[in-house]
This record gives sequence, C-alpha cells and structure tokens, in this order.
Amino acid sequence: MKTQYAVITGASSGIGFEFAREFARRGIPSVLVARSQTILEQLASSLSSEFSVKSVPFPADLTHADDRNRLVDFCAAEGFTIEYLVNSAGYGSNGLFPELDIEKEIRMTELNCIALQELSYRFTEIFIRNHGGTIINVASTASFQPVPFMASYAATKSFVLSLSLALRIELAGSGVTVFALCPGPVDTNFFRNARMKKPRRFLRVHPPEFVVRKAFKGLDSGRAFLIVGILNKVLYYTGSLLPLTFRARVAGKMFERKARRRP
Ligand SMILES: NC(=O)c1ccc[n+]([C@@H]2O[C@H](COP(=O)([O-])OP(=O)(O)OC[C@H]3O[C@@H](n4cnc5c(N)ncnc54)[C@H](OP(=O)(O)O)[C@@H]3O)[C@@H](O)[C@H]2O)c1
Repeated sequence: MKTQYAVITGASSGIGFEFAREFARRGIPSVLVARSQTILEQLASSLSSEFSVKSVPFPADLTHADDRNRLVDFCAAEGFTIEYLVNSAGYGSNGLFPELDIEKEIRMTELNCIALQELSYRFTEIFIRNHGGTIINVASTASFQPVPFMASYAATKSFVLSLSLALRIELAGSGVTVFALCPGPVDTNFFRNARMKKPRRFLRVHPPEFVVRKAFKGLDSGRAFLIVGILNKVLYYTGSLLPLTFRARVAGKMFERKARRRP
C-alpha cells in the first residue's frame, strides 16, 4: 500500500503546527504549507529527527490562486497519495468595521474562506478518485453567531462551519469525511496578529496541543464538528436557545471596549 500523506495549511504556527506534530507522532508524513519557509524547514527537520517521519515544506501564500494551484500540482507531480487535508491557515481582525484596513479584511476572506473552499474542492476530487480521504476544517466558536467588532472574521468562520457540515452530508457514502473543529480561544499567535489581547477572565485559553488532541478524538468518534472545552459547549447549547440578535449583542459586548479604545 502507498504511503498516505496529510496536507496541512498554517503548519508554521499554532494549531496547524500541532496538527503537523500529531500526524508525525501517528507516523503519517505531511506536506507543510504556510508562507514562512524557514520555520517550515525547521519543523520538517525536527519531525524527521523526533518521529522519523518525512515532512515536506511547501512555502505558499494561500491568498494567491497560483500558489493554491502550485500546491495541488506539486502533490500530484511528487506522486503523493493524500489522505488528509487540514485547513488551518487563517487569521482574524478586530475593530470598528469602517476603521479597518479593507485590503487586509479582503485578504482574510480570501484565506479563511476562498483558499479553504478551493483546496477542499480540489482535494475532494482526489479523495473521490482514491475512494477515501478526510478534510479537517478549522472553524471556531465564532462560527455560531455574529461577533460585532470581529464582524468579518466571525462571518468567515460561519462560512467554514456551514460549508463543512453541508459537504459532509453531500459526500456521505463517497469515502470522503469532512470534520469541522470549533475551538474557543487558543494560545497561539492569533491574538497578536489580530492586535487583540488574549481573554484573561471567564473564557479559558486552551493550549494548541490540547485542541489538536480533542480534534482527533472527535474525528475518531465520527463527530461532524467538535467544540473544544466544556464552557464553550455549555455556551453553545444554552446560546442556541436564545435569539440570534441577542447572542450577537452579547458577543459584541465582549469586544466593544477593546475596539473603541484603539487610537
Ligand atoms: N487561536 C485562536 O484563539 C483560534 C480560535 C478559533 C479558531 N482559530 C483558527 O485556527 C486557525 C489557526 O490559527 P492559529 O490560532 O493557529 O493562529 P496562528 O498561530 O497565527 O497560525 C496561523 C497560520 O496561518 C498561516 N497563514 C497566515 N496567512 C497565510 C497565508 N496568506 N498563506 C498561507 N498561510 C498563512 C500562518 O503562517 P505564515 O504566517 O507562515 O504564513 C500560520 O501558520 C485559524 O483558521 C484561526 O481562525 C484560532
């Protein structure tokens, strides 16, 4: 049987980085995708020495359609049999919508939604041909309601969850599994890149290793999506009984002061 690979986007940091480590721990080689070439090369060499598993760095800016095509073509040209696609590359933003940098907001949508959509499409074709494959899409607890002051980010994550759950049903019986991971706050570079402080009270900030361990548990037990953390689950289930507009106002309260304080 041919060696089966995982393609992991956002592998240079945070959740994607931990996915790369967990696949290597399980003996599964991977194609590591992000823009930071040096970090990907260091990760590949550490995975090879620690777990004796091959990892291939693939530097790419996934907001560029050409880079997305290059990734799919590269996997085919190398003859890699891809069994998993992890779409973890993504970033957030925070602030009053009219004051945000619209170019950055559009690039965020391109990365969080369009790149994930296109890679899901291209690898689904391959998975159907191979009679099997799994797509893991990193959504968020922000997928469940609008979040004022993180408006576009939350909308991108609703897109990820909605697409994933719908595809899972469409593709049932094809051998292709689609799974959405919905973490709350995770201790990664996400907050720094979004120019936000990590939540200190109320919500727990999970380590990325914990999030990825939970993801595999959810996947192995056949879940369509997984909310990470008991409090996040309680908030989801109690929140789902309340009107969406009310939930949006509550979510907005959590980010309003931070957003208005910025010069
Ligand atoms: N941290 C949280 O609290 C949290 C909670 C819920 C969901 N999430 C989601 O989890 C996913 C991973 O985020 P994280 O928390 O692990 O943040 P992170 O540590 O900042 O990692 C983001 C990853 O995305 C990659 N990336 C950014 N722009 C890219 C581009 N144009 N092309 C290719 N790769 C790009 C980054 O690599 P380069 O900079 O090297 O390109 C990095 O590997 C995101 O989708 C995020 O929305 C995070």
